[in-house]
Amino acid sequence: MSNKHFIPLSVPNIAGNEWKYVKDCLDTGWISSVGSYVTQFEQMVADFVGAKYGVAAVNGTAALHIALLLSGVKQDDYVILPNLTFVASANSIKYLGAEPLLIDADPDLWQMDLDLLEEFLENETDEKNGELIYIKDGRRIGAIMPVHILGNMCDMDRFLSIVKKYPLPIVEDATESLGTKYKGINAGKFSPLACLSFNGNKIISTGGGGCIVTDDEALAKHAKHLTTTAKARNDEYYHDEVGYNYRLVNVLAAIGVGQMELLPSFIKRKKEYVAFYKKELTGVADIRFQKELPEVDTNGWLFTIQTDKQQQLLDHLNANNILSRRFWMPMNMLPMYKDCVYVQKRDNSKYIYNTCLSIPCSTNITGEELSIVVREIKEAIG
Ligand SMILES: Cc1ncc(COP(=O)(O)O)c(C=O)c1O
Repeated sequence: MSNKHFIPLSVPNIAGNEWKYVKDCLDTGWISSVGSYVTQFEQMVADFVGAKYGVAAVNGTAALHIALLLSGVKQDDYVILPNLTFVASANSIKYLGAEPLLIDADPDLWQMDLDLLEEFLENETDEKNGELIYIKDGRRIGAIMPVHILGNMCDMDRFLSIVKKYPLPIVEDATESLGTKYKGINAGKFSPLACLSFNGNKIISTGGGGCIVTDDEALAKHAKHLTTTAKARNDEYYHDEVGYNYRLVNVLAAIGVGQMELLPSFIKRKKEYVAFYKKELTGVADIRFQKELPEVDTNGWLFTIQTDKQQQLLDHLNANNILSRRFWMPMNMLPMYKDCVYVQKRDNSKYIYNTCLSIPCSTNITGEELSIVVREIKEAIG
């Protein structure tokens, strides 16, 4: 029996006070770029992550752009990041005229491969006048961007111990990992500036939105300044540097406040269905799961399985109204990034791309829908 009822991949779950707070914005006229919900949302996000400050932004990409800029990334620098990520990570580097330097993925964790990173830094870089240089062409490496892929994390202790030997600022792309912890420490706490996203498919959503989190007051103030057109006076249009209109408007922040109130229940729900999927799909055909380190407590953001029968499964699920998606195409396979330096031995990124698919995992997915997804996976390849 084929499934007639459409099951989305990962959609917003508006289940709390969002309507009430949005109505408040509409009733009072505070719908635009300033307002109490913006401040409240920033504080709620910062408090949740355990950071001192939050600076809301129009989306996660804009947050990354500003975080890289404030970390000192300049035109013609390289920025190291995983080859397997969503395109926005690499684009934010390009916006500064810098160049992505791609590291292949670990075959089990699907995060940046730390062996490759370590080898690359040891053998292919040099330090000159306190700066890290890529030996082959003498260009500076301005920063490194770990991305917590699918809300999971790599061995962060090892990552930090590798990176701290070099003058290399870290900018965490924590856009997918709100609520993920490594040894009890939240994603977003592993670099001076880290970025979150609240787009439609994230664990909480403001429709579109992002946030920079930091413990540094000066960086927080500067981030706020740059995301709000760098206006330096209240009484006049005096702007003291090239700023950006990257504000999250009050009406979206109001949704965000409602969503933050629900976040603990969303994380709980994600954990329940991850456990359900793992129990039901273990031993079905050649299905494998993303490895999780014992130190990592993931937010279970986007449930993704691996099988050599990827295309067969994708075709079957989508034909049965169950939205499932292939993994992101690796950066080195995109036209803009195909000539980037790509550090790899076995091109695991390509294999992961060719074998992984994400399956429905909205926080409001029902038990019945979960059972239908499992049934259809078994039907397709079981
Ligand atoms: C890894 C990664 N980086 C950056 C972004 C960009 O976030 P946004 O869509 O809010 O701009 C996303 C989400 O889309 C993402 O998954």
